[in-house]
Amino acid sequence: MDRIRIRGGKPLSGTIPIGGAKNAALPLMIAALLTDETLTLRHVPVLADITTLQHLLVQHGCTITLTGAESAHEHGHALQLNARRIVSTTAPYDLVRRMRASVLVLGPLLARCGEARVSLPGGCAIGTRPVDLHVKGLERLGAKIDLRGGYIEASAPQGLKGAEINFTTVSVGATENLMMAATLADGQTTLVNAAREPEIVDLAVCLNAMGAKIEGAGNDRITITGVKKLHGAEHTVVPDRIETGTYIMAAAITGGELDLVGARYDLVSAVAVGLQSAGVAVTETAKGIHVRRSNGRLNGIDVMTEPFPGFPTDLQAQMMALMSTADGAAMITETIFENRFMHVPELCRMGANINVHGSSAMVRGVAHLNGAEVMATDLRASVSLVLAGLAAEGETIINRVYHLDRGYERVEEKLAACGAEIERLTDD
Ligand code: UD1
Repeated sequence: MDRIRIRGGKPLSGTIPIGGAKNAALPLMIAALLTDETLTLRHVPVLADITTLQHLLVQHGCTITLTGAESAHEHGHALQLNARRIVSTTAPYDLVRRMRASVLVLGPLLARCGEARVSLPGGCAIGTRPVDLHVKGLERLGAKIDLRGGYIEASAPQGLKGAEINFTTVSVGATENLMMAATLADGQTTLVNAAREPEIVDLAVCLNAMGAKIEGAGNDRITITGVKKLHGAEHTVVPDRIETGTYIMAAAITGGELDLVGARYDLVSAVAVGLQSAGVAVTETAKGIHVRRSNGRLNGIDVMTEPFPGFPTDLQAQMMALMSTADGAAMITETIFENRFMHVPELCRMGANINVHGSSAMVRGVAHLNGAEVMATDLRASVSLVLAGLAAEGETIINRVYHLDRGYERVEEKLAACGAEIERLTDD
């Protein structure tokens, strides 16, 4: 298994290109199942999760052609997806368990083929993460759903029927699944208490380009008027706000200065405003975002994760690494997922002073972190250890970096290009 070695203490300086958002690209690729024509997606990041989804879509009968942008200076690539013939409506356990987002094929397959059989994703490292909202929503659209042998078995032989769906919890995935399913339903569907994440807006823009009739994406009430058929389209994936936020914090934790080219300030404004009060200058530029830590140590600030436009849970671990080195204390509260503090013991091994009480962590800033051998436990936790390693004195070795490869494209290359001493150690 690959490991990453970092010798910390070097302020970052330079330019980092921001890729297309993984969490937007995944549902966009799945949207290809809704049409028999070709969907072209540009700026798709090169990541393990994208490859996993490609395997799943191929076994459903989708052909995928990869083009362009594989040179050393360009990032991401273009994908052409064509699901002219769906050959299987089953998403097997072996593929779904590797990536929860696979459950998003449920709505599109059901809407297009009248049936779908999708493995329950099971528990995952950051809590139980149920899919009840996806299932209940599809039932509201008239699907008959049974849970059998670890699979969600859904059928709607006469097609889905538009309805009002009230989500009891704000869920990104359930909003996406239902929005896609409703595009081919008979009549109007209203999603109430829908998620407002930029990735949902991006999906709606793409679906509308494919002929769907969706209004209100980005608000908590989305209306979808069903159409008989969707067609092909071309779409460019929205920039990754989590990658953006991560590199903002990388600049901040090393006391450096970075230009994040292709980043969109409006997608990270909650993060930028918070960090500004901690002593980080985050400004919008013509090409993206410029970030610079003003002199001296950062101030500790309190943060609570919330659905968009609040502070994202996917940046909580990185924020905790950053606050570990701040002057003063910071209370970090996680409201979206249970069990999402697995990075805490690892950060503590590097000298951080963090105490967890229920869903809150009290971080008391220390003057220095020390390099150590640590273990990545999930995607965002693993990158928080990279940030800590960049700031720490001495050498840090991060094990299980396959987590990192699920969501960060060429992370060590991007950081090394800005002066970090970081390398991947590959096993023979
Ligand atoms: C997506 C993101 C993930 C991010 C999360 C929250 C993708 C591929 N992943 O995950 O990176 O951390 O949004 O911003 O886009 N819930 C239920 N029942 C359900 C579905 C969700 O109770 O049927 C709960 C979850 O347990 C969680 C909350 O709702 O507590 C939010 O989860 P959700 O927004 O659905 O996360 P994902 O879409 O899985």
